[in-house]
Amino acid sequence: MQAYGAAFARVYNRQWAGFARYHAPRILEFYAGRNRASENLTLLDLGCGTGQLALVFLEHGYRVTGLDLSADMLHYAEDNTRAFVQSGQARFVQADAAAFTFDESFGLVVSLFDALNHLPDWDALRGCFRSVRVVTGAGGMFIFDLNTRQGLKRWNQISVSEDEDILIVNRGIYDGGDRAYAHINGFIREDDGRYSRFEETVYNTVFDLEPVRALLLETGWRELYFARIDALATPLDEPEREGRVFVVASV
Ligand SMILES: C[S@@+](CC[C@H](N)C(=O)[O-])C[C@H]1O[C@@H](n2cnc3c(N)ncnc32)[C@H](O)[C@@H]1O
Repeated sequence: MQAYGAAFARVYNRQWAGFARYHAPRILEFYAGRNRASENLTLLDLGCGTGQLALVFLEHGYRVTGLDLSADMLHYAEDNTRAFVQSGQARFVQADAAAFTFDESFGLVVSLFDALNHLPDWDALRGCFRSVRVVTGAGGMFIFDLNTRQGLKRWNQISVSEDEDILIVNRGIYDGGDRAYAHINGFIREDDGRYSRFEETVYNTVFDLEPVRALLLETGWRELYFARIDALATPLDEPEREGRVFVVASV
């Protein structure tokens, strides 16, 4: 279980919104280009974090449910989409992506920024694929990204970034096995000018792509392929050569 804690959630909200802001419009455009998309403008965002992808879809008229294990990340998600939460167009739910249910179904289910690599093992991934399948409506889609083994090799380094308000030290460890770790710590400036410390260790489980394909088929997905974010309609011939891959699955 990897629910990001309060201090790290604050840093995440400040530092890592850009990934979702870049990727969300591309997923939205791809989904909207499908014939049946306009019939079902409902989105479930798994591992929604601070709600940045949700915000893009909300601004395009979608009803959005965000799911995350971390109450602290959900706090920022609600804050970042406040008007939509108040109007009932958005809601955020604390739950495990590996096992959840909803009474409604969704046209599109998304999981972004290696949220599913945070699941601990294949059983959890199977539970996630099953749960998503049950809540995906007719003609619906499931789009998520995964860091590949190749991509996680890039974690194996130390990086330091700093500006006036924040210092971040990120120590990644990956030995080529089935799990990569990142120990992220540093200091962030508070409103009163003092600095407070944050620290989080996260891991990514490696899910090789051919077993992922088999597991999706086993759990009831009919069509699927691997793609890059800038060409979501184009299946990749050699997805394991990519650092990050988008999985596009349909009912
Ligand atoms: C790298 S962040 C990505 C957040 C967001 N999708 C984005 O693009 O910014 C991973 C998120 O997955 C959440 N998470 C980790 N394990 C989870 C689980 N088992 N179920 C639901 N959320 C989980 C974390 O709390 C965190 O918010």
